[in-house]
Amino acid sequence: MSRKLRVGVAGYGVGQGHIYALQRLADQFEVVAICDIDEAKLRHAADGHNISATTTDFAELCARDDLDVIDICTPTYLHVAQTLQTLAAGKHVICEKPVAGSLKQVDELIQAEAESDRRVMPIFQYRFGHGLQKLKLLVDKKVTGQAYLSTVETAWRRRPAYYAAPWRGKWETELGGALVTLAVHAHDVLYYILGPAKSVFARAKTMVNPIETEDCISASLEMANGSLASLSVTTGSAQEITRHRFCFSGLAAESNIAPYQNTSDPWTFTGDSPEISERIESTLARFEPLPEGFEGQFFRFAQALQQNTELPVTLLDARVALELITAVYHSARTGRPVDLPLGHDHPLYAGWQP
Ligand SMILES: NC(=O)c1ccc[n+]([C@@H]2O[C@H](COP(=O)([O-])OP(=O)(O)OC[C@H]3O[C@@H](n4cnc5c(N)ncnc54)[C@H](O)[C@@H]3O)[C@@H](O)[C@H]2O)c1
Repeated sequence: MSRKLRVGVAGYGVGQGHIYALQRLADQFEVVAICDIDEAKLRHAADGHNISATTTDFAELCARDDLDVIDICTPTYLHVAQTLQTLAAGKHVICEKPVAGSLKQVDELIQAEAESDRRVMPIFQYRFGHGLQKLKLLVDKKVTGQAYLSTVETAWRRRPAYYAAPWRGKWETELGGALVTLAVHAHDVLYYILGPAKSVFARAKTMVNPIETEDCISASLEMANGSLASLSVTTGSAQEITRHRFCFSGLAAESNIAPYQNTSDPWTFTGDSPEISERIESTLARFEPLPEGFEGQFFRFAQALQQNTELPVTLLDARVALELITAVYHSARTGRPVDLPLGHDHPLYAGWQP
């Protein structure tokens, strides 16, 4: 095993979950330093995780010569500048979603990564749930057949307290609403299994909370593989669920509905014939579970760096997710379907913010 990756974590909101995961992977990572502009949080984090090096200054974190990776868990509007700053300091980047607020910005990040000898990994930790990984295995082993129709529901509940954080609910700082911040995970799961969409029609509204950005979305997609998909998103669901349902010629796959763990087990896979059910069973008997969630993504990140292979989530994955977001907003505002991919001359290429 090569030397552990030494990590500095910036932002102690969801950063707490990152640190727990990194510290559980003690053979691969060491969390050396933590940064937050809120001194009380910083002290609490340092004590709670036994991390001695702390700073309130992101530039100081970047300047440390004992770090291999900076893990950016700060509010969304800081991600692009801090990613560029980290690459310029010669360190790998892990960055929370969304990495950027436009296709133009993500293209700048792709270029900056290519010009550096470092790597940038956006976070999409839901990819690594065991239920979803089983479906991925069935797809890779060609058990699923042709994709017909998929449904993705992100029905969560966000009350006014959630929007008390001053950066939330605003175009300038959260960069978007439920589409950008919440449903981006479930939509990435769809793309992870089926690839990107080629056409989108969407409606978006703000109904649940008095915020600038949208909190309800309904979208109809035609995927590049020819199948159809529908997305529904709300922050007003008294019962919180996330659900994925994939209907293929060979089988129907349905996730559990735990809102924040629906890609984990259990999923149900129903074969369209006894023979296919047997193939499902024999394929899944060979499933080898790896860690899930943040831990699953970081585990694969360390392996990819060590073996010089593709990262488990790339900037190109983030780019297609941002392209879908751009298309949904454009369709909702124009009332027309939008064809993908979007060119550099698209009116929202430089940003979907109104
Ligand atoms: N992957 C996931 O499941 C997931 C879950 C929650 C949030 N997120 C993403 O993580 C990001 C942060 O969200 P959150 O809910 O943790 O927000 P938060 O407001 O709870 O935490 C952000 C932290 O960053 C700190 N901060 C602000 N400016 C900073 C700076 N310049 N340098 C260092 N620290 C700074 C704040 O003081 C705060 O402690 C967002 O982009 C969000 O979309 C992802």
